[in-house]
Amino acid sequence: MKITYGELLRKVCQFANVLRNHGVKKGDRISIYLPMILELVIAMLACARIGAIHSVVFAGFSADSLCERILDCGCSLLITADAFYRGDKLVNLKQIADEALQKSKDKGFPLKKCIVVKHLGREEVAADGACSQSPPLKRLCQDVQEKKTESSQRLHPKIPWDPRMDVWWQDLMSGASTECEPEWCDSEDELFILYTSGSTGKPKGVLHTVGGYMLYAATSFKYVFDYQPEDVYWCTADIGWITGHSYITYGPLANGATSVLFEGIPTYPDAGRMWSIIDKYKVTKFYTAPTAIRLLMKCGEEPVKKHSRKSLKVLGTVGEPINPEAWLWYYRVVGEERCPIVDTFWQTETGGHMLTPLPAATPMKPGSATFPFFGVVPAIMNESGEELEGEAEGYLVFKQPWPGIMRTLYGNHQQFETTYFKKFPGYYVTGDGCRRDKDGYYWITGRIDDMLNVSGHLLSTAEVESALLGHGAVSEAAVVSHPHPLKGECLYCFVTLKDGHDFTKNLADELKKQVREKIGPIATPDYIQYAPSLPKTRSGKITRRILRKIAQNDRDLGDISTLVNPGIINQLFNDRCDTKL
Ligand code: WT7
Repeated sequence: MKITYGELLRKVCQFANVLRNHGVKKGDRISIYLPMILELVIAMLACARIGAIHSVVFAGFSADSLCERILDCGCSLLITADAFYRGDKLVNLKQIADEALQKSKDKGFPLKKCIVVKHLGREEVAADGACSQSPPLKRLCQDVQEKKTESSQRLHPKIPWDPRMDVWWQDLMSGASTECEPEWCDSEDELFILYTSGSTGKPKGVLHTVGGYMLYAATSFKYVFDYQPEDVYWCTADIGWITGHSYITYGPLANGATSVLFEGIPTYPDAGRMWSIIDKYKVTKFYTAPTAIRLLMKCGEEPVKKHSRKSLKVLGTVGEPINPEAWLWYYRVVGEERCPIVDTFWQTETGGHMLTPLPAATPMKPGSATFPFFGVVPAIMNESGEELEGEAEGYLVFKQPWPGIMRTLYGNHQQFETTYFKKFPGYYVTGDGCRRDKDGYYWITGRIDDMLNVSGHLLSTAEVESALLGHGAVSEAAVVSHPHPLKGECLYCFVTLKDGHDFTKNLADELKKQVREKIGPIATPDYIQYAPSLPKTRSGKITRRILRKIAQNDRDLGDISTLVNPGIINQLFNDRCDTKL
Protein backbone atom coordinates (compact mmCIF):
# COMPACT_ATOMS: atom_id res chain seq x y z
CA MET A 1 0.00 0.00 0.00
CA LYS A 2 1.01 3.59 -0.48
CA ILE A 3 0.34 6.76 1.47
CA THR A 4 0.88 10.40 0.50
CA TYR A 5 2.03 13.16 2.82
CA GLY A 6 -1.49 14.67 2.69
CA GLU A 7 -3.10 11.39 3.73
CA LEU A 8 -0.54 10.89 6.46
CA LEU A 9 -1.23 14.38 7.83
CA ARG A 10 -4.96 13.67 7.97
CA LYS A 11 -4.45 10.36 9.75
CA VAL A 12 -2.03 11.93 12.22
CA CYS A 13 -4.56 14.68 12.94
CA GLN A 14 -7.31 12.11 13.40
CA PHE A 15 -5.29 10.10 15.85
CA ALA A 16 -4.10 13.25 17.63
CA ASN A 17 -7.78 14.08 18.15
CA VAL A 18 -8.41 10.55 19.42
CA LEU A 19 -5.63 11.00 21.98
CA ARG A 20 -6.96 14.41 23.03
CA ASN A 21 -10.44 12.91 23.39
CA HIS A 22 -8.91 10.40 25.78
CA GLY A 23 -7.64 13.28 27.89
CA VAL A 24 -4.01 13.12 26.69
CA LYS A 25 -2.25 16.45 27.26
CA LYS A 26 1.14 17.99 26.58
CA GLY A 27 3.85 16.21 28.60
CA ASP A 28 1.83 12.99 29.13
CA ARG A 29 3.66 9.76 28.29
CA ILE A 30 2.18 7.30 25.80
CA SER A 31 3.61 3.80 25.36
CA ILE A 32 3.52 2.36 21.87
CA TYR A 33 4.01 -1.39 21.35
CA LEU A 34 3.44 -2.02 17.66
CA PRO A 35 4.98 -3.97 14.78
CA MET A 36 6.34 -2.17 11.70
CA ILE A 37 3.03 -0.85 10.45
CA LEU A 38 1.89 2.59 9.37
CA GLU A 39 -0.04 3.11 12.60
CA LEU A 40 3.27 3.13 14.46
CA VAL A 41 4.42 6.21 12.53
CA ILE A 42 0.96 7.78 12.85
CA ALA A 43 0.89 7.21 16.61
CA MET A 44 4.36 8.74 17.10
CA LEU A 45 3.54 11.80 15.02
CA ALA A 46 0.14 12.21 16.69
CA CYS A 47 1.89 12.32 20.08
CA ALA A 48 4.37 14.86 18.72
CA ARG A 49 1.51 16.98 17.35
CA ILE A 50 -0.14 17.37 20.74
CA GLY A 51 3.09 17.57 22.76
CA ALA A 52 2.71 14.12 24.34
CA ILE A 53 5.92 12.13 24.88
CA HIS A 54 6.01 8.80 23.06
CA SER A 55 7.82 5.77 24.40
CA VAL A 56 8.04 3.17 21.65
CA VAL A 57 8.77 -0.34 22.89
CA PHE A 58 10.16 -2.79 20.30
CA ALA A 59 7.50 -5.42 19.54
CA GLY A 60 10.08 -8.18 20.09
CA PHE A 61 10.34 -7.31 23.78
CA SER A 62 8.70 -9.50 26.41
CA ALA A 63 5.82 -8.65 28.77
CA ASP A 64 8.30 -8.03 31.60
CA SER A 65 10.32 -5.59 29.50
CA LEU A 66 7.18 -3.77 28.38
CA CYS A 67 5.89 -3.61 31.96
CA GLU A 68 9.20 -2.20 33.21
CA ARG A 69 9.06 0.55 30.57
CA ILE A 70 5.41 1.35 31.28
CA LEU A 71 6.14 1.74 34.99
CA ASP A 72 9.32 3.76 34.47
CA CYS A 73 7.68 6.42 32.31
CA GLY A 74 4.29 6.27 34.05
CA CYS A 75 2.38 6.35 30.78
CA SER A 76 -1.35 7.00 30.69
CA LEU A 77 -2.20 4.84 27.72
CA LEU A 78 -0.89 1.92 25.68
CA ILE A 79 -1.19 1.52 21.92
CA THR A 80 -0.72 -1.98 20.55
CA ALA A 81 -1.99 -4.36 17.84
CA ASP A 82 -3.88 -7.64 17.85
CA ALA A 83 -1.13 -9.81 16.35
CA PHE A 84 1.40 -9.95 13.53
CA TYR A 85 3.60 -12.33 11.60
CA ARG A 86 7.37 -12.43 11.82
CA GLY A 87 8.18 -14.49 8.75
CA ASP A 88 5.76 -17.38 9.18
CA LYS A 89 5.60 -17.07 12.95
CA LEU A 90 2.53 -15.57 14.54
CA VAL A 91 3.11 -13.20 17.45
CA ASN A 92 0.03 -12.62 19.59
CA LEU A 93 1.04 -9.12 20.59
CA LYS A 94 -2.17 -8.27 22.43
CA GLN A 95 -1.71 -11.24 24.70
CA ILE A 96 1.82 -10.14 25.61
CA ALA A 97 0.61 -6.56 26.11
CA ASP A 98 -2.16 -7.82 28.41
CA GLU A 99 0.36 -9.74 30.49
CA ALA A 100 2.42 -6.57 30.82
CA LEU A 101 -0.66 -4.55 31.80
CA GLN A 102 -1.60 -7.15 34.40
CA LYS A 103 1.91 -7.06 35.86
CA SER A 104 1.84 -3.28 35.94
CA LYS A 105 -1.56 -3.36 37.68
CA ASP A 106 -0.19 -5.84 40.25
CA LYS A 107 2.58 -3.33 40.94
CA GLY A 108 0.01 -0.65 41.71
CA PHE A 109 -0.06 1.08 38.31
CA PRO A 110 -3.29 0.23 36.50
CA LEU A 111 -3.76 1.71 33.01
CA LYS A 112 -7.24 2.74 31.95
CA LYS A 113 -7.04 2.40 28.19
CA CYS A 114 -5.44 0.21 25.59
CA ILE A 115 -5.91 1.16 21.93
CA VAL A 116 -5.55 -1.86 19.65
CA VAL A 117 -4.83 -1.74 15.90
CA LYS A 118 -6.70 -4.45 14.04
CA HIS A 119 -3.89 -5.74 11.88
CA LEU A 120 -4.31 -9.48 11.51
CA GLY A 121 -5.64 -10.38 8.09
CA ARG A 122 -4.57 -7.10 6.47
CA GLU A 123 -1.06 -8.22 5.56
CA GLU A 124 -2.31 -11.19 3.59
CA VAL A 125 -4.02 -8.82 1.17
CA ALA A 126 -0.79 -6.86 0.87
CA ALA A 127 1.22 -10.04 0.27
CA ASP A 128 -1.14 -11.02 -2.56
CA GLY A 129 -0.56 -7.67 -4.21
CA ALA A 130 3.20 -8.04 -3.87
CA CYS A 131 3.08 -11.45 -5.46
CA SER A 132 0.97 -10.70 -8.49
CA GLN A 133 3.79 -10.00 -10.96
CA SER A 134 5.81 -13.16 -11.20
CA PRO A 135 4.27 -16.64 -11.45
CA PRO A 136 7.03 -18.43 -9.50
CA LEU A 137 6.89 -15.79 -6.80
CA LYS A 138 3.15 -16.06 -6.78
CA ARG A 139 3.37 -19.78 -6.27
CA LEU A 140 5.78 -19.24 -3.44
CA CYS A 141 3.44 -16.73 -1.89
CA GLN A 142 0.55 -19.14 -2.25
CA ASP A 143 2.58 -21.69 -0.35
CA VAL A 144 3.24 -19.05 2.22
CA GLN A 145 -0.46 -18.23 2.43
CA GLU A 146 -1.30 -21.86 2.94
CA LYS A 147 1.35 -22.15 5.58
CA LYS A 148 0.00 -19.05 7.27
CA THR A 149 -3.55 -20.33 7.23
CA GLU A 150 -2.37 -23.63 8.59
CA SER A 151 -0.35 -22.06 11.33
CA SER A 152 -3.07 -19.58 12.23
CA GLN A 153 -5.56 -22.40 12.45
CA ARG A 154 -3.14 -24.39 14.48
CA LEU A 155 -2.48 -21.52 16.83
CA HIS A 156 -6.10 -20.28 17.02
CA PRO A 157 -5.05 -16.70 17.53
CA LYS A 158 -7.69 -15.67 19.97
CA ILE A 159 -7.23 -12.02 20.82
CA PRO A 160 -7.92 -11.45 24.53
CA TRP A 161 -10.32 -8.56 25.04
CA ASP A 162 -11.57 -6.56 28.00
CA PRO A 163 -14.35 -4.20 26.84
CA ARG A 164 -13.85 -1.87 29.83
CA MET A 165 -10.27 -1.27 28.82
CA ASP A 166 -9.68 -2.22 25.18
CA VAL A 167 -10.80 -0.26 22.16
CA TRP A 168 -10.09 -0.79 18.46
CA TRP A 169 -7.97 1.87 16.75
CA GLN A 170 -10.14 1.69 13.64
CA ASP A 171 -13.35 2.38 15.60
CA LEU A 172 -11.87 5.47 17.19
CA MET A 173 -10.44 6.77 13.91
CA SER A 174 -13.62 6.50 11.91
CA GLY A 175 -15.36 9.30 13.81
CA ALA A 176 -12.35 11.57 14.34
CA SER A 177 -11.84 14.91 12.57
CA THR A 178 -8.97 15.18 10.09
CA GLU A 179 -8.02 18.58 11.41
CA CYS A 180 -6.14 19.12 14.62
CA GLU A 181 -4.54 22.32 15.85
CA PRO A 182 -0.98 21.43 16.92
CA GLU A 183 0.23 22.12 20.44
CA TRP A 184 2.83 24.88 20.43
CA CYS A 185 6.05 23.54 21.90
CA ASP A 186 9.37 25.00 22.94
CA SER A 187 12.41 23.62 21.17
CA GLU A 188 13.56 22.14 24.49
CA ASP A 189 10.22 20.43 25.25
CA GLU A 190 10.34 16.62 25.40
CA LEU A 191 9.67 14.72 22.18
CA PHE A 192 10.21 11.10 23.17
CA ILE A 193 11.72 8.60 25.55
CA LEU A 194 13.47 5.54 24.15
CA TYR A 195 14.84 2.89 26.47
CA THR A 196 18.31 1.50 25.94
CA SER A 197 20.25 -1.03 27.99
CA GLY A 198 22.22 0.34 30.91
CA SER A 199 25.22 -1.27 32.55
CA THR A 200 23.33 -1.43 35.85
CA GLY A 201 20.86 -3.85 34.24
CA LYS A 202 17.91 -1.45 34.37
CA PRO A 203 17.02 0.08 31.01
CA LYS A 204 17.70 3.81 30.75
CA GLY A 205 15.02 6.15 29.42
CA VAL A 206 16.95 8.29 26.94
CA LEU A 207 15.08 11.56 26.48
CA HIS A 208 15.20 13.59 23.27
CA THR A 209 13.72 17.02 22.69
CA VAL A 210 11.70 18.62 19.90
CA GLY A 211 14.07 21.13 18.31
CA GLY A 212 17.57 19.74 18.59
CA TYR A 213 16.69 16.13 17.85
CA MET A 214 14.55 16.86 14.80
CA LEU A 215 17.08 19.31 13.38
CA TYR A 216 19.84 16.77 13.78
CA ALA A 217 17.84 13.83 12.39
CA ALA A 218 16.74 15.88 9.38
CA THR A 219 20.18 17.35 8.62
CA SER A 220 22.13 14.14 9.04
CA PHE A 221 19.59 12.26 6.89
CA LYS A 222 19.94 14.84 4.13
CA TYR A 223 23.74 14.88 4.00
CA VAL A 224 24.69 11.35 4.97
CA PHE A 225 22.38 9.80 2.37
CA ASP A 226 22.83 12.73 0.00
CA TYR A 227 19.06 12.83 -0.19
CA GLN A 228 17.65 14.12 -3.49
CA PRO A 229 13.96 14.66 -4.31
CA GLU A 230 13.85 11.77 -6.80
CA ASP A 231 15.26 9.28 -4.30
CA VAL A 232 13.44 6.27 -2.92
CA TYR A 233 14.90 5.52 0.47
CA TRP A 234 14.66 2.34 2.53
CA CYS A 235 15.90 1.70 6.06
CA THR A 236 15.33 -1.87 7.22
CA ALA A 237 15.63 -1.12 10.96
CA ASP A 238 12.70 -1.52 13.31
CA ILE A 239 11.17 1.75 14.54
CA GLY A 240 11.43 0.24 18.03
CA TRP A 241 15.12 1.23 17.94
CA ILE A 242 16.68 4.67 17.53
CA THR A 243 17.64 3.96 13.90
CA GLY A 244 13.96 3.70 13.03
CA HIS A 245 13.04 6.79 15.06
CA SER A 246 15.67 8.97 13.37
CA TYR A 247 15.94 7.44 9.91
CA ILE A 248 12.45 6.09 9.22
CA THR A 249 10.12 8.41 11.08
CA TYR A 250 11.70 11.80 11.72
CA GLY A 251 14.66 12.31 9.34
CA PRO A 252 13.07 11.21 6.05
CA LEU A 253 9.65 12.73 6.79
CA ALA A 254 11.19 16.09 7.75
CA ASN A 255 12.85 16.07 4.32
CA GLY A 256 9.69 15.13 2.43
CA ALA A 257 11.41 11.93 1.31
CA THR A 258 9.75 8.97 -0.38
CA SER A 259 10.50 5.93 1.72
CA VAL A 260 9.69 2.27 2.06
CA LEU A 261 8.28 0.87 5.32
CA PHE A 262 8.82 -2.89 5.53
CA GLU A 263 7.11 -5.19 8.01
CA GLY A 264 8.84 -8.43 7.02
CA ILE A 265 12.23 -10.03 7.58
CA PRO A 266 15.18 -10.34 5.15
CA THR A 267 14.96 -14.11 4.71
CA TYR A 268 11.26 -14.60 4.18
CA PRO A 269 9.90 -15.99 1.93
CA ASP A 270 13.50 -16.31 0.73
CA ALA A 271 16.92 -14.70 1.01
CA GLY A 272 16.21 -12.48 -2.01
CA ARG A 273 13.48 -10.50 -0.29
CA MET A 274 15.53 -7.32 0.23
CA TRP A 275 16.73 -7.23 -3.34
CA SER A 276 13.29 -7.94 -4.75
CA ILE A 277 11.87 -5.01 -2.78
CA ILE A 278 14.71 -2.79 -3.97
CA ASP A 279 13.79 -3.67 -7.57
CA LYS A 280 10.07 -3.37 -6.99
CA TYR A 281 10.25 0.18 -5.61
CA LYS A 282 13.47 1.25 -7.41
CA VAL A 283 15.16 1.97 -4.10
CA THR A 284 18.13 4.34 -4.48
CA LYS A 285 19.38 4.66 -0.89
CA PHE A 286 19.45 1.56 1.29
CA TYR A 287 20.31 1.45 5.01
CA THR A 288 20.74 -1.82 6.93
CA ALA A 289 22.78 -3.53 9.66
CA PRO A 290 26.00 -5.60 9.51
CA THR A 291 24.17 -8.56 11.06
CA ALA A 292 21.69 -8.60 8.15
CA ILE A 293 24.55 -8.30 5.66
CA ARG A 294 26.38 -11.25 7.22
CA LEU A 295 23.20 -13.32 7.25
CA LEU A 296 22.57 -12.67 3.56
CA MET A 297 26.23 -13.16 2.69
CA LYS A 298 25.92 -16.66 4.09
CA CYS A 299 23.13 -17.36 1.59
CA GLY A 300 25.56 -16.73 -1.27
CA GLU A 301 25.51 -14.40 -4.27
CA GLU A 302 22.76 -16.11 -6.23
CA PRO A 303 19.72 -14.60 -4.43
CA VAL A 304 21.31 -11.16 -4.87
CA LYS A 305 22.24 -11.60 -8.52
CA LYS A 306 18.74 -12.79 -9.42
CA HIS A 307 17.67 -9.18 -8.95
CA SER A 308 18.88 -6.16 -10.85
CA ARG A 309 19.53 -3.60 -8.04
CA LYS A 310 20.43 -1.07 -10.70
CA SER A 311 18.47 1.67 -8.95
CA LEU A 312 20.84 1.62 -5.96
CA LYS A 313 23.11 4.62 -5.43
CA VAL A 314 24.15 4.68 -1.76
CA LEU A 315 24.39 1.88 0.81
CA GLY A 316 24.48 2.42 4.55
CA THR A 317 25.24 0.37 7.62
CA VAL A 318 24.69 0.93 11.33
CA GLY A 319 24.59 -0.78 14.68
CA GLU A 320 27.95 -2.42 15.23
CA PRO A 321 31.42 -2.54 13.75
CA ILE A 322 31.26 -4.06 10.27
CA ASN A 323 33.97 -6.60 9.54
CA PRO A 324 35.89 -5.82 6.32
CA GLU A 325 34.77 -9.11 4.75
CA ALA A 326 31.08 -8.18 5.11
CA TRP A 327 31.85 -4.60 4.03
CA LEU A 328 33.53 -5.85 0.83
CA TRP A 329 30.66 -8.23 0.06
CA TYR A 330 28.17 -5.38 0.50
CA TYR A 331 30.30 -3.15 -1.71
CA ARG A 332 31.15 -5.67 -4.45
CA VAL A 333 28.15 -7.98 -4.63
CA VAL A 334 25.24 -5.77 -3.55
CA GLY A 335 26.50 -2.41 -4.80
CA GLU A 336 28.55 -3.73 -7.74
CA GLU A 337 31.36 -1.38 -6.76
CA ARG A 338 29.37 1.63 -7.87
CA CYS A 339 27.66 2.57 -4.59
CA PRO A 340 29.56 4.30 -1.80
CA ILE A 341 28.97 2.81 1.65
CA VAL A 342 28.21 5.04 4.62
CA ASP A 343 29.26 3.24 7.81
CA THR A 344 27.47 5.38 10.37
CA PHE A 345 28.57 5.29 13.99
CA TRP A 346 26.11 6.70 16.52
CA GLN A 347 23.98 5.79 19.54
CA THR A 348 20.47 6.03 20.96
CA GLU A 349 21.90 8.82 23.10
CA THR A 350 23.33 10.85 20.19
CA GLY A 351 20.04 11.01 18.26
CA GLY A 352 21.80 10.86 14.89
CA HIS A 353 25.04 10.05 13.04
CA MET A 354 28.29 11.06 14.75
CA LEU A 355 31.10 9.50 12.73
CA THR A 356 30.26 8.82 9.11
CA PRO A 357 31.49 9.21 5.57
CA LEU A 358 29.62 11.54 3.22
CA PRO A 359 28.80 9.40 0.18
CA ALA A 360 31.15 9.80 -2.78
CA ALA A 361 32.92 12.65 -1.00
CA THR A 362 34.80 10.76 1.73
CA PRO A 363 37.37 8.19 0.56
CA MET A 364 36.32 4.97 2.29
CA LYS A 365 38.26 2.35 4.23
CA PRO A 366 36.34 -0.91 4.80
CA GLY A 367 35.41 -1.12 8.49
CA SER A 368 36.03 2.51 9.39
CA ALA A 369 33.24 5.00 10.19
CA THR A 370 35.79 7.54 8.87
CA PHE A 371 35.30 11.12 10.13
CA PRO A 372 32.98 13.24 12.33
CA PHE A 373 29.75 14.70 10.97
CA PHE A 374 29.33 18.52 10.86
CA GLY A 375 29.69 20.04 14.32
CA VAL A 376 30.91 16.85 15.96
CA VAL A 377 34.28 17.02 17.74
CA PRO A 378 35.60 13.59 18.73
CA ALA A 379 38.66 12.86 20.83
CA ILE A 380 40.44 9.76 22.05
CA MET A 381 41.35 9.62 25.75
CA ASN A 382 43.57 7.37 27.77
CA GLU A 383 42.61 5.92 31.16
CA SER A 384 44.04 8.91 33.01
CA GLY A 385 41.89 11.34 31.10
CA GLU A 386 44.51 12.72 28.71
CA GLU A 387 43.53 13.49 25.15
CA LEU A 388 45.64 11.51 22.70
CA GLU A 389 46.88 13.08 19.48
CA GLY A 390 47.60 11.50 16.10
CA GLU A 391 47.62 7.74 15.78
CA ALA A 392 46.07 6.47 19.00
CA GLU A 393 43.69 4.04 20.64
CA GLY A 394 41.51 4.62 23.70
CA TYR A 395 38.09 5.83 24.83
CA LEU A 396 35.96 7.60 22.25
CA VAL A 397 34.55 10.85 23.64
CA PHE A 398 32.93 13.99 22.21
CA LYS A 399 34.23 17.38 23.20
CA GLN A 400 31.27 19.62 22.53
CA PRO A 401 27.50 19.18 22.38
CA TRP A 402 25.58 18.78 19.10
CA PRO A 403 21.86 19.45 18.52
CA GLY A 404 20.78 15.80 18.77
CA ILE A 405 22.40 14.97 22.10
CA MET A 406 20.00 13.46 24.65
CA ARG A 407 18.98 15.90 27.36
CA THR A 408 18.53 13.57 30.31
CA LEU A 409 17.62 10.06 31.43
CA TYR A 410 13.93 10.20 32.17
CA GLY A 411 13.41 10.69 35.91
CA ASN A 412 17.11 10.33 36.72
CA HIS A 413 19.24 13.31 35.78
CA GLN A 414 21.86 12.25 38.31
CA GLN A 415 22.40 8.95 36.48
CA PHE A 416 22.62 10.88 33.20
CA GLU A 417 25.50 12.96 34.60
CA THR A 418 27.32 9.98 36.10
CA THR A 419 26.95 7.68 33.10
CA TYR A 420 28.06 10.07 30.40
CA PHE A 421 30.06 12.92 31.98
CA LYS A 422 31.72 11.72 35.17
CA LYS A 423 34.59 9.59 33.89
CA PHE A 424 36.12 12.47 31.94
CA PRO A 425 34.69 15.77 33.22
CA GLY A 426 33.79 18.07 30.34
CA TYR A 427 33.50 15.27 27.79
CA TYR A 428 30.63 13.02 26.64
CA VAL A 429 31.75 9.39 27.01
CA THR A 430 30.39 6.97 24.41
CA GLY A 431 31.41 3.72 26.14
CA ASP A 432 33.13 2.61 22.93
CA GLY A 433 36.77 1.97 22.28
CA CYS A 434 38.27 3.61 19.21
CA ARG A 435 41.46 3.80 17.18
CA ARG A 436 42.59 6.68 14.99
CA ASP A 437 44.95 5.69 12.20
CA LYS A 438 47.75 7.69 10.63
CA ASP A 439 45.34 9.24 8.12
CA GLY A 440 43.01 10.41 10.90
CA TYR A 441 40.32 7.76 10.22
CA TYR A 442 38.31 6.57 13.23
CA TRP A 443 37.82 2.82 13.78
CA ILE A 444 35.35 1.73 16.46
CA THR A 445 36.75 -1.27 18.33
CA GLY A 446 33.60 -2.12 20.33
CA ARG A 447 32.17 -1.50 23.77
CA ILE A 448 34.52 -1.12 26.70
CA ASP A 449 31.88 -1.31 29.41
CA ASP A 450 29.69 -4.21 30.54
CA MET A 451 27.58 -3.96 27.43
CA LEU A 452 27.47 -6.23 24.45
CA ASN A 453 26.11 -5.88 20.99
CA VAL A 454 24.02 -8.79 19.70
CA SER A 455 22.93 -8.32 16.08
CA GLY A 456 23.23 -4.57 16.48
CA HIS A 457 21.24 -4.47 19.72
CA LEU A 458 22.89 -3.37 22.91
CA LEU A 459 22.35 -5.57 25.93
CA SER A 460 23.89 -5.28 29.34
CA THR A 461 25.47 -8.32 30.90
CA ALA A 462 23.90 -7.26 34.23
CA GLU A 463 20.41 -7.36 32.72
CA VAL A 464 20.92 -10.95 31.54
CA GLU A 465 22.53 -11.94 34.82
CA SER A 466 19.58 -10.66 36.78
CA ALA A 467 17.21 -12.61 34.50
CA LEU A 468 19.23 -15.79 35.18
CA LEU A 469 19.23 -15.09 38.91
CA GLY A 470 15.44 -14.94 38.72
CA HIS A 471 15.47 -18.72 38.26
CA GLY A 472 15.17 -20.62 41.54
CA ALA A 473 18.11 -22.95 40.83
CA VAL A 474 20.73 -20.24 40.19
CA SER A 475 22.82 -18.79 42.98
CA GLU A 476 25.31 -16.79 40.90
CA ALA A 477 25.57 -15.86 37.26
CA ALA A 478 28.18 -14.14 35.11
CA VAL A 479 27.58 -13.29 31.49
CA VAL A 480 30.23 -12.38 28.95
CA SER A 481 30.16 -11.53 25.29
CA HIS A 482 31.46 -14.08 22.82
CA PRO A 483 32.22 -13.64 19.10
CA HIS A 484 29.51 -14.96 16.76
CA PRO A 485 29.80 -15.22 12.97
CA LEU A 486 26.33 -13.78 12.25
CA LYS A 487 25.26 -11.86 15.32
CA GLY A 488 28.64 -10.21 15.84
CA GLU A 489 28.52 -11.04 19.52
CA CYS A 490 26.46 -13.50 21.51
CA LEU A 491 25.92 -14.37 25.17
CA TYR A 492 28.03 -16.93 27.00
CA CYS A 493 26.72 -17.47 30.54
CA PHE A 494 28.33 -19.08 33.57
CA VAL A 495 25.97 -20.20 36.32
CA THR A 496 26.53 -21.48 39.84
CA LEU A 497 23.67 -23.50 41.28
CA LYS A 498 22.02 -23.60 44.67
CA ASP A 499 22.46 -26.79 46.68
CA GLY A 500 20.17 -29.58 45.62
CA HIS A 501 20.12 -28.64 41.93
CA ASP A 502 21.88 -30.53 39.15
CA PHE A 503 23.03 -28.97 35.93
CA THR A 504 21.22 -30.76 33.11
CA LYS A 505 20.38 -29.94 29.50
CA ASN A 506 16.86 -29.43 30.70
CA LEU A 507 17.94 -26.81 33.19
CA ALA A 508 20.07 -25.05 30.57
CA ASP A 509 17.01 -24.89 28.29
CA GLU A 510 14.89 -23.56 31.14
CA LEU A 511 17.45 -20.85 31.80
CA LYS A 512 17.49 -19.84 28.14
CA LYS A 513 13.70 -19.66 28.25
CA GLN A 514 13.85 -17.60 31.42
CA VAL A 515 16.03 -14.98 29.71
CA ARG A 516 13.79 -14.95 26.62
CA GLU A 517 10.77 -14.35 28.81
CA LYS A 518 12.38 -11.72 31.02
CA ILE A 519 13.99 -9.69 28.24
CA GLY A 520 13.00 -10.97 24.80
CA PRO A 521 14.17 -13.39 22.09
CA ILE A 522 17.17 -11.25 21.06
CA ALA A 523 18.68 -11.86 24.50
CA THR A 524 18.50 -15.67 24.30
CA PRO A 525 21.90 -17.00 25.46
CA ASP A 526 23.84 -19.17 23.02
CA TYR A 527 25.86 -20.93 25.73
CA ILE A 528 25.27 -21.79 29.35
CA GLN A 529 28.10 -23.37 31.28
CA TYR A 530 27.93 -24.75 34.79
CA ALA A 531 30.51 -23.23 37.13
CA PRO A 532 31.09 -24.81 40.56
CA SER A 533 32.30 -21.32 41.51
CA LEU A 534 33.28 -18.13 39.68
CA PRO A 535 36.75 -16.55 39.61
CA LYS A 536 36.71 -13.56 41.97
CA THR A 537 38.99 -10.87 43.27
CA ARG A 538 39.58 -10.40 46.99
CA SER A 539 36.95 -7.70 47.07
CA GLY A 540 34.47 -10.25 45.72
CA LYS A 541 34.25 -8.93 42.14
CA ILE A 542 33.69 -11.56 39.46
CA THR A 543 36.48 -11.24 36.88
CA ARG A 544 34.57 -11.26 33.63
CA ARG A 545 37.78 -10.54 31.75
CA ILE A 546 38.97 -14.07 32.63
CA LEU A 547 35.60 -15.66 31.91
CA ARG A 548 35.65 -14.08 28.46
CA LYS A 549 38.98 -15.78 27.80
CA ILE A 550 37.72 -19.11 29.11
CA ALA A 551 34.72 -18.89 26.79
CA GLN A 552 37.09 -18.33 23.87
CA ASN A 553 39.52 -21.02 25.04
CA ASP A 554 42.27 -18.44 25.21
CA ARG A 555 44.77 -19.53 27.86
CA ASP A 556 46.69 -16.28 27.79
CA LEU A 557 45.09 -15.01 31.00
CA GLY A 558 47.58 -12.39 32.07
CA ASP A 559 47.78 -11.62 35.76
CA ILE A 560 45.61 -13.92 37.87
CA SER A 561 47.36 -13.25 41.16
CA THR A 562 44.51 -11.08 42.40
CA LEU A 563 42.10 -14.02 42.35
CA VAL A 564 41.00 -15.69 45.59
CA ASN A 565 40.24 -18.97 43.83
CA PRO A 566 42.64 -19.45 40.88
CA GLY A 567 42.12 -23.22 41.21
CA ILE A 568 38.70 -23.01 39.57
CA ILE A 569 40.11 -21.81 36.27
CA ASN A 570 41.36 -25.14 34.99
CA GLN A 571 38.07 -26.79 35.66
CA LEU A 572 36.18 -24.02 33.86
CA PHE A 573 38.45 -24.52 30.84
CA ASN A 574 37.77 -28.27 30.88
CA ASP A 575 34.00 -27.80 31.11
CA ARG A 576 33.74 -25.26 28.28
CA CYS A 577 30.71 -25.42 26.00
CA ASP A 578 31.55 -26.47 22.48
CA THR A 579 31.51 -23.15 20.68
CA LYS A 580 32.29 -24.39 17.18
CA LEU A 581 29.37 -23.39 14.99
C1 WT7 B 1 26.25 1.27 20.04
C2 WT7 B 1 24.97 2.07 20.16
C3 WT7 B 1 22.96 3.82 16.48
C4 WT7 B 1 21.85 2.99 16.13
C5 WT7 B 1 21.88 1.56 16.46
C6 WT7 B 1 22.46 1.17 17.79
C7 WT7 B 1 27.53 0.40 18.30
C8 WT7 B 1 26.56 1.62 16.32
C9 WT7 B 1 28.18 1.50 14.88
C10 WT7 B 1 29.09 1.53 13.78
C11 WT7 B 1 30.66 0.43 15.13
C12 WT7 B 1 28.60 0.88 16.07
C13 WT7 B 1 28.42 1.14 19.28
C14 WT7 B 1 27.47 2.11 19.94
N1 WT7 B 1 27.56 0.97 16.95
N2 WT7 B 1 26.92 1.93 15.07
N3 WT7 B 1 28.77 2.09 12.60
N4 WT7 B 1 30.31 0.99 13.96
N5 WT7 B 1 29.83 0.35 16.20
O1 WT7 B 1 22.10 2.06 18.81
O2 WT7 B 1 21.57 0.50 20.69
O3 WT7 B 1 22.26 2.88 21.14
O4 WT7 B 1 23.92 1.19 20.30
O5 WT7 B 1 26.22 0.49 18.84
O6 WT7 B 1 28.93 0.24 20.22
O7 WT7 B 1 27.88 2.57 21.21
P1 WT7 B 1 22.40 1.67 20.30
